[in-house]
Amino acid sequence: MVAHLSDCHVDDGPEPLERLRRTLDAVRAVGTAVDLVVLTGDVAQDGRAAQYRTVRQEFDRLHVPVVACPGNHDVREAFAEVVLAEPATGAAPLHRMHRRAGLAVLALDSTVPGADHGTLDPAVVDWAVAELADMDPAAPALVALHHAPLRWHPDQLRSLDAAGTAVLRSLLRAAPAVRAVLGGHFHHAMSGVLDGVPVLVAPSVAPRILPPWEPDGAVVDVEPGFAVHSVAPVGAPTSFFRRVP
Ligand SMILES: [Fe+2]
Ligand SMILES: [Fe+2]
Repeated sequence: MVAHLSDCHVDDGPEPLERLRRTLDAVRAVGTAVDLVVLTGDVAQDGRAAQYRTVRQEFDRLHVPVVACPGNHDVREAFAEVVLAEPATGAAPLHRMHRRAGLAVLALDSTVPGADHGTLDPAVVDWAVAELADMDPAAPALVALHHAPLRWHPDQLRSLDAAGTAVLRSLLRAAPAVRAVLGGHFHHAMSGVLDGVPVLVAPSVAPRILPPWEPDGAVVDVEPGFAVHSVAPVGAPTSFFRRVP
């Protein structure tokens, strides 16, 4: 099973860290059924290395493999160095392929430095096909990216742009092993479908954002949340969305 967390927004203050700790306690309570954590971006509020080190310490205590992709609040260089534990790679997008717990996870970098919305470069399609080439075609794969290809209102929160969504659709056509797209950015549990592939958005560890049809649609400080996806040998995952007490 995959525990799917998103949008921790850890800064230098105590509250986001406390919310992350509570969330990780709840993941721990799910028990050994969780064999992978996918973290879909906005890991740190300001993208600073010290903030990533704080986050890393917390996740390291889980003793479960963690796969992460950056969000619009993240900064590639520091994210690569601390979260991915890689040498400096410059400012290139951080697309990474991970094979963990019998799953292939394509962790995509949908960020546009300096912007809130996301996009994808067309080159990511050939990269993904090459990464999956030697996989058993029956083995399941997931895509993880921060900017989920969904929208709840054109004016409120921009996620993956039209060009990026077209690239993602090409990737899904070229990589039929992908069973679901996991995302974040909306700070709300959401689901949708893109060309028959489920799109699953984890609720945020940081405070929730209400959709515009709710009264007082703004940031609301409620319990953190996360999702658990059970990836079966065939078909779409079964997903559970949990609130953290
Ligand atoms: Fe966020
Ligand atoms: Fe975001």
